[in-house]
Amino acid sequence: MAKSTSLYSSWLTGLLVFLAAIAPLTSAATPTYTTSASRSSGTATPIGGANSKRIVQYCGTLYAPSSLNKVHIADTVNSTRPVYVTDVIYGTWSMQQNKTMTISFNDTNVSPNLPRHAWAWSEMKTVQRAGVSVSMGLRGGFTYFNDNSTFEGYYGALRSTLQKYKFDGIDLDIEDYGEGRPNPITLEAVIRLIQRLRKDFGRDFVITLAPVSTAMAGSGGNMSKFSYTELEKRAGKDISWYNVQFYYLPDELESTDTVDAAMQHGWQPQRIVIGMVTEPDFGQDVWVELPKVAKTLRTVFAKYPALKGVDGFDYYDQKPGGYPAPWEWPAWAAQQISAVGGNGTGSASPSSGARKLVFKA
Ligand SMILES: *[C@@H]1O[C@H](CO)[C@@H](O)[C@H](O)[C@H]1NC(C)=O
Ligand SMILES: *[C@@H]1O[C@H](CO)[C@@H](O)[C@H](O)[C@H]1NC(C)=O
Ligand SMILES: *[C@@H]1O[C@H](CO)[C@@H](O)[C@H](O)[C@H]1NC(C)=O
Ligand SMILES: *[C@@H]1O[C@H](CO)[C@@H](O)[C@H](O)[C@H]1NC(C)=O
Ligand SMILES: *[C@@H]1O[C@H](CO)[C@@H](O)[C@H](O)[C@H]1NC(C)=O
Ligand SMILES: *[C@@H]1O[C@H](CO)[C@@H](O)[C@H](O)[C@H]1NC(C)=O
Repeated sequence: MAKSTSLYSSWLTGLLVFLAAIAPLTSAATPTYTTSASRSSGTATPIGGANSKRIVQYCGTLYAPSSLNKVHIADTVNSTRPVYVTDVIYGTWSMQQNKTMTISFNDTNVSPNLPRHAWAWSEMKTVQRAGVSVSMGLRGGFTYFNDNSTFEGYYGALRSTLQKYKFDGIDLDIEDYGEGRPNPITLEAVIRLIQRLRKDFGRDFVITLAPVSTAMAGSGGNMSKFSYTELEKRAGKDISWYNVQFYYLPDELESTDTVDAAMQHGWQPQRIVIGMVTEPDFGQDVWVELPKVAKTLRTVFAKYPALKGVDGFDYYDQKPGGYPAPWEWPAWAAQQISAVGGNGTGSASPSSGARKLVFKA
């Protein structure tokens, strides 16, 4: 869904093996952390105890595209409001040929290390202190992991960046096929990358991918050249879940069709977070008004109660609050799936986000 050549604007975000890991969380159901009285940030407070649903917030751009005003992700954990978000995917990151990593905004790749961006990493820490997991959003340069002889060098650069900023996870949004890129990452290389990350960062590290819906349904359209079914078979135990872009086809979430298609293709609902577009300026053809998405969400969560959660792309000016209040969407999302979750157990009430209780892979 390459609507534009801009890395940011073309970014379509994006259990069985986990049952053993989840069981202690769901059955023990006695979270021990307490609500913080901190003024600077709220603290995720679990309700229901199950902590099984994720409310995933993409924050792909750290500066609003037209104004370049700062985008304040820390507003999602402001202590004056309940915290609904459980996971943030922060920044649009790329690996460069020279083994440096850049973030992208205003159609430009820049170094994350510049002093003028320090505020963003400070806000990231605020979000983490509130118990919310923050993943790197890796969106470009996957091709550099293809060649075994240079893999270590690129992987080392990725690992040290993840360590430097103390990310809790990584979202692999692989869209390097069909955009005139000659060497999309291969299945072998993706598996190698995922297994290496899991080995080095451990069981709690959140490793997600962001396939488009049709790739999950096996119906042709895809932006990664490999099969996600095959990936799940071979590396599923090291993948936390999939933030699936249900906004690849026009007006997609006006119906449940592509969610149904993914299920019919054999996916377990607990492997899937339903991804939605949260801002009209992403593209009028894929934008669906929130009330219509709400209806679809309620329908699919009633039909497949084990669905893992909802993700929203992109934070900076998203509905219903718009640029002044983008932090309203996580509450909106939690409300849609709570409404069908029985007595609230396992639904993303404020907030199931505590990092310590983040779903363990
Ligand atoms: C939290 O939100 C309140 C009300 O919108 C605002 O006045 C306050 O400055 C915010 N706190 C932080 C730390 O951003
Ligand atoms: C590496 O490449 C990026 C992107 O081309 C460039 O902006 C950066 O200056 C380079 N860094 C070094 C150390 O060469
Ligand atoms: C965004 O980048 C373009 C160059 O690509 C520049 O002309 C423009 O001034 C930048 N926008 C802002 C608000 O700085
Ligand atoms: C690359 O390395 C992996 C193991 O890390 C191996 O399975 C694969 O066969 C290698 N590929 C090539 C082309 O040598
Ligand atoms: C990906 O999409 C292309 C073009 O529609 C198709 O030819 C290919 O078979 C698809 N690959 C997978 C693994 O689904
Ligand atoms: C309500 O929650 C309890 C656990 O707290 C669970 O055992 C019960 O099955 C739930 N009821 C419904 C209708 O979901």
